[in-house]
Amino acid sequence: MGLEAPDDAAVWRLDDSRSLVITVDFFPPIVDDAYQFGAIAAANALSDLYAMGATPFLALNIAAFPAHLPLELLTQILRGGAEKVREANAVVAGGHTIKDDEPKFGLVAVGLISDGNLLTKGGFQPGDSLILTKPIGSGILTTALKAGTLSDTHLQHVTEWMLRLNGPAATLASRFGVSGATDITGFGLLGHAQEAAQASGVQLVFSLPAIPLYDGAREHARKGSIPGGSADNQLNFQAQVSMDAMIRDEERTLLYDAQTSGGLLLSLPKRRQEAFLRTAETEGVPAWVVGHVTEGEGVVVSGEAMPSRST
Ligand code: CO
Ligand code: CO
Repeated sequence: MGLEAPDDAAVWRLDDSRSLVITVDFFPPIVDDAYQFGAIAAANALSDLYAMGATPFLALNIAAFPAHLPLELLTQILRGGAEKVREANAVVAGGHTIKDDEPKFGLVAVGLISDGNLLTKGGFQPGDSLILTKPIGSGILTTALKAGTLSDTHLQHVTEWMLRLNGPAATLASRFGVSGATDITGFGLLGHAQEAAQASGVQLVFSLPAIPLYDGAREHARKGSIPGGSADNQLNFQAQVSMDAMIRDEERTLLYDAQTSGGLLLSLPKRRQEAFLRTAETEGVPAWVVGHVTEGEGVVVSGEAMPSRST
């Protein structure tokens, strides 16, 4: 694909019909449970393959682990990762662990894609609907967890979502011929939206009331447990984002919140929206219409609700 425009993974043509898609991601624990941390990190690393329309087939572990911690914790992290990779119908074929003061875990993930299925940040088309497949606010909530202020119910809710593979959403996206896609991770919803707007030469328009939030995300954003990465996102991207003045500070924070294992943002031709949403519901794939794509540049966030579908 080249290095000019940033995309979710590297793409390398193999032959007349197929390409390899390769990505890497790893980070320190965001939840206390070692097994769940491993599984979330794996789901997060595989997400960049799904965002490009690729099918994962092989992964390698990348791990760092302190000498003073029980080795059983590392075993659990690796088991969580391996079982998540298996859920994606792929296999962990090895890896490498180093000693470090802080545990870290992730994957090099490799997938395959046939020509015509490639999804990029550069494919978003004016007139399309914007579909989001997971709520936002996981950065706020995992920061609250570190501060010891997150309730068990809210932790369980966000953990279940972070554990969820983007595979079924990606399969649905390719069946319905979406124009472009990306996944929502460290740059937050608006950061990744801005990347897509720039790569596609279009404007992305979001409707704030349509954007799904994790339970508890709003109250923790209001209390100010804001991850450093999310504050950086706001500084880095706000020049390209125009927001209704009525939008509150905590809502701005959430729109820029750095996500772990976030959902896919899809650009879906409007004529296929009804059928897409109906099939998503039947197959248990969460999907929210959060805005639309138009001519222009940058990102716009409106405080108004989406116009009703019949208009
Ligand atoms: Co990505
Ligand atoms: Co990534």
